[in-house]
Amino acid sequence: MNHFIRCSGALAALVLMFALPVAAQQAAAPIVIKFSHVTTSDTPKGKGADQFKKLAEERTQGRVKVEVYPNSSLYKDKEELEALQLGAVQMLAPSVSKFGPLGVREFEVFDLPYIFDSIEEMHRITEGPLGQMLLNKLEMRGILGLAYWDNGFKQMSANRPLKKPDDFKGLKLRIQSSKVLEAQMRTINALPQVMAFSEVYQAMQTGVVDGSENTLSNIYTQKHHEVQKFLTLSDHGYIGYAVITNKKFWDSLPADLRTILDGAMKDASKLANDVAKKENDDALEGIRKSGKTQILTLTPAEKGEWKRVMVKSHRQMEERVGADLIKAFYKETGFDPNK
Ligand code: LMR
Repeated sequence: MNHFIRCSGALAALVLMFALPVAAQQAAAPIVIKFSHVTTSDTPKGKGADQFKKLAEERTQGRVKVEVYPNSSLYKDKEELEALQLGAVQMLAPSVSKFGPLGVREFEVFDLPYIFDSIEEMHRITEGPLGQMLLNKLEMRGILGLAYWDNGFKQMSANRPLKKPDDFKGLKLRIQSSKVLEAQMRTINALPQVMAFSEVYQAMQTGVVDGSENTLSNIYTQKHHEVQKFLTLSDHGYIGYAVITNKKFWDSLPADLRTILDGAMKDASKLANDVAKKENDDALEGIRKSGKTQILTLTPAEKGEWKRVMVKSHRQMEERVGADLIKAFYKETGFDPNK
């Protein structure tokens, strides 16, 4: 009996010794992923980020906590990229137009006006080797690209009706931080002003800028339509995102967690891409219903004229983004600069 008690006591101690670390591990604070972004939650990006949070937390059973900070509540455009590199946040989804200042100029190829006729053409890049090659370029900045997310085609807004290239003359137009967008705006004699997304509404309201280009979901959720008299449905360019993480952070995660998070990202990407078109269609409806801005459409001839003028920026930007890369994009999308 005594022997039995002694044995079972020893056994219990042994069990405790091995069990404690596991219990302690289970009780340990979860790994926190701060996901900062600049759009509201009811946008394609906002919905993608929230879906990633949901799936990541469910599937890791609490081992990972994802804190989503939408609408520039934590950082603005430039600051969030710095914060990611410093490790103050772990995940972002900047527009692919914002990597130039980081020294990865090739991403600005996505900004060439009219290079994509459809989302399907865009996907040929983002789901193929060119998209992967571009993500790989971020690694020299300590950044790992996890996925591409869609938003949609850009439209022009201003306090002046924009129907012809001449209508842009002298207008101060806000752009994202991309030299290609700067060149595009100069082809139509506008004055491009780089500005953080969160500052655009106020700049429009106070007349610091006369207009801008953006997707319908961004225009609607940031209420730009309330401070712009005209909106031209031009579809002249595209905004999409690269979901990125701090490479050191990602590599430090336990392998099993990384696999789960990769899966959550894959499924969240599907949702973001699936809702993107509807979000933009609904935003157009919302803008129309608000009655605050006049919506203009272009005839095929007018569209052709915008294209003829803006496409001049392609040649001008060969040195900036690489002539070979532009050619590779043309080949994949079927774009013909002479048409
Ligand atoms: C912008 O700055 O206009 C956009 O990139 C914002 C966004 O993230 O969609």
